[in-house]
Amino acid sequence: MGYRNSFYSTQGVVDDSGATSFMKLNRSSSSTNFYKKLTLSDACSSRSVVSLRCVECGAHPTATHNRIVGGTAATQGQWPWQVSLHFQGVHLCGGSIITPRWILTAAHCVATIHLRNAQNWMVFAGILRQSLMIHKEGIPVEKVIPHPSYNSKTKNNDIALLKLQTPLAFNDSVKPVCLPNPGLGLDPNQQSWISGWGATYFRGKTSEELNSASVPLIENSRCNSKLLYHNLITPEMICAGFLQGRVDACQGDSGGPLVTDKNGIWWLIGDTSWGYGCADTFRPGVYANVTVFMDWLSRQMRVNS
Ligand code: ARG
Repeated sequence: MGYRNSFYSTQGVVDDSGATSFMKLNRSSSSTNFYKKLTLSDACSSRSVVSLRCVECGAHPTATHNRIVGGTAATQGQWPWQVSLHFQGVHLCGGSIITPRWILTAAHCVATIHLRNAQNWMVFAGILRQSLMIHKEGIPVEKVIPHPSYNSKTKNNDIALLKLQTPLAFNDSVKPVCLPNPGLGLDPNQQSWISGWGATYFRGKTSEELNSASVPLIENSRCNSKLLYHNLITPEMICAGFLQGRVDACQGDSGGPLVTDKNGIWWLIGDTSWGYGCADTFRPGVYANVTVFMDWLSRQMRVNS
């Protein structure tokens, strides 16, 4: 069951497919590999099977070009998973589409009582300009789920899910990004991309256009050095950016994607979380480390589906 496409729900169902060939799970098998516990069978006496729903994600946009600080304006369909999250009519944070019903964002975007109220949010997908969003209908939010262990002081576990009231219709400009499978195998300095409508300079205002920029990952050990963030980086965070600064996420980019292209597929490896200033020397951007939250994410989508 190779899964290059992320699954987004599972269900125990009664089999009425008329199938004559099944895979049986041998629970007593000592093997740790799931596929080695499966045996072929012509019958399924329990009539109870598992069905998976998969989502085709991380597709390469047709046009690959190369504010965010030090970035360039994005083109239509370049980052089709990027959404703008409007709180009471204004852009507050970014987010990423992971299934037709679920948006991944940062916990600090939704962490107060006021911000946790689903009715205050509207999600805009497939639109590059903020001024065009006010004329369009956003998608209302049904549920806001910040990580229960989010710490507003340390910004640890800065991840949240938004469940949409109606599913997104995918097209060239609206598509999901892939969630990272364990063992994705990133390079220590893996080239990654950030995108968002955040400020294009420190203390600047929200950008009218969607901007994006390429930033390399920085190893946690290095990011925790005295010169950088001196032990503020936990295993639930990852750093990306340049030691000389100049290119970075900034206010308003929070919750938005940090993605990387691996094996021809785009993977969501982080959501924009924090940083000292924007694009300063020795102050790279800090992102929640999506990989470590995979169990929490799958569970939330399962129990809230
Ligand atoms: N916390 C900010 C927000 O709410 C994002 C900050 C990212 N800063 C940075 N220098 N990378 O939008």
